[in-house]
Amino acid sequence: MENRTISINNKIISYKIAGEGECVILLHGFGEDSNVWQDQAYFLKSNYTVIMPDVPGSGYSELTDDVSMEAIAAVVKEILDSEDIEKVVLIGHSMGGYATLAFAEKYSEMLKGFGLFHSLATADNDEKKIVRRKGIDFIKKYGAKTFLEMQPGNLFAEQTRDNNPSVINQFLKSYQPFSNKSLIEYYEAMIARPDRTHVLKDSKVPVLFVAGEKDAIIPMDAVVKQIPLVSISNVHILSNSGHMGMLEEPNEANKAIEDFLLQVNGYTAAI
Ligand code: MLT
Repeated sequence: MENRTISINNKIISYKIAGEGECVILLHGFGEDSNVWQDQAYFLKSNYTVIMPDVPGSGYSELTDDVSMEAIAAVVKEILDSEDIEKVVLIGHSMGGYATLAFAEKYSEMLKGFGLFHSLATADNDEKKIVRRKGIDFIKKYGAKTFLEMQPGNLFAEQTRDNNPSVINQFLKSYQPFSNKSLIEYYEAMIARPDRTHVLKDSKVPVLFVAGEKDAIIPMDAVVKQIPLVSISNVHILSNSGHMGMLEEPNEANKAIEDFLLQVNGYTAAI
């Protein structure tokens, strides 16, 4: 796995790249960085080129002036241009999924398929916006570190918290520290993002949905309601996962992504 950087408006944008073959981009969510996809990268790299960007303000990427979903999509486009890659599969976790939809809206010709991993195409409702505003006030008062340390209760299924605390400890330890500003800007950007269900309805390429049965942030039922909007879908329910299926059930998550890549790249899985 190699770390590479590009510069956008004099800010360093970092990404990891591994493997060879057709390209899949794995885009992390809020309060994470590219490390969240480590298991998937090791699994996929023997057959695919896997690119895992650090969203601006996360990991080793500097915060840029704009972290709207459209701007994050534009960062992904710049990375692809710098690697001379014209066609990809893009899979985003949660906030990364919102940016994936913005990418699909603007650069649909570059996509062979895209995936919403614990993510949705609808915008925040008023209730969600109020929760985010409270989160912003909390971060301003107590700081990003304290805020993130309180998240595992929401992020992980009870089963993971009880039986696999090392996954959670590792999760909390493995990220570069976040600035208050980065987290606040992500929240503002998520509040401002529009509904993109039309992207699902208009998609001419296969769409992957991965949902966690115990997800308290993106409820499985809400994901399931979006599936009929899409003409070619690939659906995986992770029955023992909350919001972090790539860590809570890594083998199942790997298989879900591989299955989708086989579908998109037109192979038939060996029986
Ligand atoms: C994420 O995991 O990216 C966020 O929890 C998404 C959200 O809050 O909507």
